[in-house]
Amino acid sequence: MIVITGANGTLGRGIVEQLLGRVPAEQIAVSVRDPEQARELAVQGVRVRRGDFTDPASLAHAFEGASQVLIVSAATTGGAAITQHRTAIEAAEAAGAHRILYTSHMGVNPSSPFPPMVDHAATEALLRESGMAFTSLRNGFYASTTLWLLTEALKTGELTAPQDGPVSWTAHADLAEAAAITLAEESFDGPTPALTAGAALDLAGAAELAAELTGRTIRRVVVPDEQYRASLLAQGLPEARVELTLGLFAASRQGEFAHVDPALAHLLGRPTTPLREVLKAGLIPAG
Ligand SMILES: NC(=O)c1ccc[n+]([C@@H]2O[C@H](COP(=O)([O-])OP(=O)(O)OC[C@H]3O[C@@H](n4cnc5c(N)ncnc54)[C@H](OP(=O)(O)O)[C@@H]3O)[C@@H](O)[C@H]2O)c1
Repeated sequence: MIVITGANGTLGRGIVEQLLGRVPAEQIAVSVRDPEQARELAVQGVRVRRGDFTDPASLAHAFEGASQVLIVSAATTGGAAITQHRTAIEAAEAAGAHRILYTSHMGVNPSSPFPPMVDHAATEALLRESGMAFTSLRNGFYASTTLWLLTEALKTGELTAPQDGPVSWTAHADLAEAAAITLAEESFDGPTPALTAGAALDLAGAAELAAELTGRTIRRVVVPDEQYRASLLAQGLPEARVELTLGLFAASRQGEFAHVDPALAHLLGRPTTPLREVLKAGLIPAG
């Protein structure tokens, strides 16, 4: 039984959908916080059980009979994320799984100014310490991250943010397919190479693409970190969220997400999805 967590989220659901084309449904199980939201998967023959990283007993039930467990990284940061990952790793081991897969990041770095990269480094250390076979999928930066900045910029005509750097923006769909292939073929041991799209682009480049696709003008305006912090706080964003966002820009201008690697395209056996396609789907209404 292959167990996938976070299967009501974007990446997890994509992985299950891709896996359904590769292994029989009765060999797939999902661990989700709300089984009702996974009803469509149950109808297809996937085992659906409730599993919450903050509730070890629920994971014991959701991971029962697992051969492999794919842990979709937590939707939180810092100590809470690491505790949740530790709980999931221990539950996978207790369930008798022979391999754990974990959705790490291409920018994994214990000293990154962007906190999730530090959490991924700590989790990879937990996986190594577990002594179990594991695969750490070093996923590229989600291309969809650009959409929240660009959608706002399209309204105002200005993309105002601190200095950034190039990022190898990668499509959720490509990462989901890669994870499904890795589960079906058990093709990687330890950390994968960086699983990235084929090009790195900074926000000015992304804004140019968005402008070209929508026929609108977007001016990239670089502001100091302090000014950006003050404007986000004034908009009512929680302080932790503001610091997280500033950390992203600091890490990106240090080049932490600039690496482009052919591994994802090799694994998929096709070119990766360019940012342009993700923006087209996200910014231009269908029909
Ligand atoms: N590579 C990148 O650039 C990048 C960017 C952002 C985030 N990430 C990481 O990638 C992960 C998956 O991305 P995504 O786009 O699929 O995010 P998503 O759509 O928000 O899905 C996150 C999933 O985590 C589940 N979850 C939250 N708290 C949980 C808990 N206590 N126990 C078990 N499951 C829990 C959620 O369950 P519910 O459906 O019940 O809420 C959801 O299904 C994120 O959680 C984050 O760690 C990566």
